[in-house]
Amino acid sequence: MLGPPGSGKGTQAKFIAKKFGLPQISTGDLLRAAVKSGSELGQLAQEYIDAGNLVPDQLVLKLLKIRISKRDCNTGFILDGYPRNLQQAKDLEKIANVTLVILIELNQSTLVRRITGRRTCKKCGAIFHVDFNPPNIQGICDICSGELYQRTDDKEETVIKRLETYKRQTEPLIEYYRDLGLLEPISGDGTIEEIQGELDHIISSRIEKG
Ligand code: AP5
Ligand code: MG
Repeated sequence: MLGPPGSGKGTQAKFIAKKFGLPQISTGDLLRAAVKSGSELGQLAQEYIDAGNLVPDQLVLKLLKIRISKRDCNTGFILDGYPRNLQQAKDLEKIANVTLVILIELNQSTLVRRITGRRTCKKCGAIFHVDFNPPNIQGICDICSGELYQRTDDKEETVIKRLETYKRQTEPLIEYYRDLGLLEPISGDGTIEEIQGELDHIISSRIEKG
């Protein structure tokens, strides 16, 4: 899943994961878990995350390799937020076979509104939005009753930096995957359900074609 911060990668990757029985691997989530654990790697990662920069490639690759070596990844997986630059795309080719790249496109003002209103469950990682996808009880996760929180990198000034990082480092991947014939761009400007429907159609027809 390729797309700028706040475009809905996590929201939609979770849907696809459930629907098609594949694990969702968000490198952002892996990094946040490392930060939470207090490990040296996590402490290093936090500085980059809070500055809106990419965490060094080797560090992210290390976490990714550990994750995809788990048994649930044997038949495939959905990457959410990886790769984010050309070096990572090359690294990925050495460890996995990329079959489809979904690009979610969305304008900047909508991205900022989506990110600043996002609330995430501390316990299960479910994603909500105060206006667009509110939980039944404010501050409480609908799924596991965990506490909802706002990510430390979701402050407006960090969000602007993340958007710049995306433009400079990640956007070149659009051409890269288009040239490889793997890119499937979709508009992120619809309801969550509309976009789910579109993704369901794209992936189901790929599966039918084999
Ligand atoms: P990461 O956690 O991946 O953040 P991101 O790419 O900035 O993307 P987000 O998670 O903010 O947005 P999303 O597209 O998942 O949107 P969501 O579904 O939540 O990375 C964080 C940091 O970690 C990076 O800045 C970097 O430092 C580091 N990092 C991660 N991967 C790395 C890598 N590979 N290499 C190096 N560093 C790395 O939706 C957003 C909000 O909108 C939610 O509130 C949701 O409810 C709402 N929403 C979703 N869809 C809709 C809709 N259709 N209509 C209305 N609201 C919607
Ligand atoms: Mg995400």
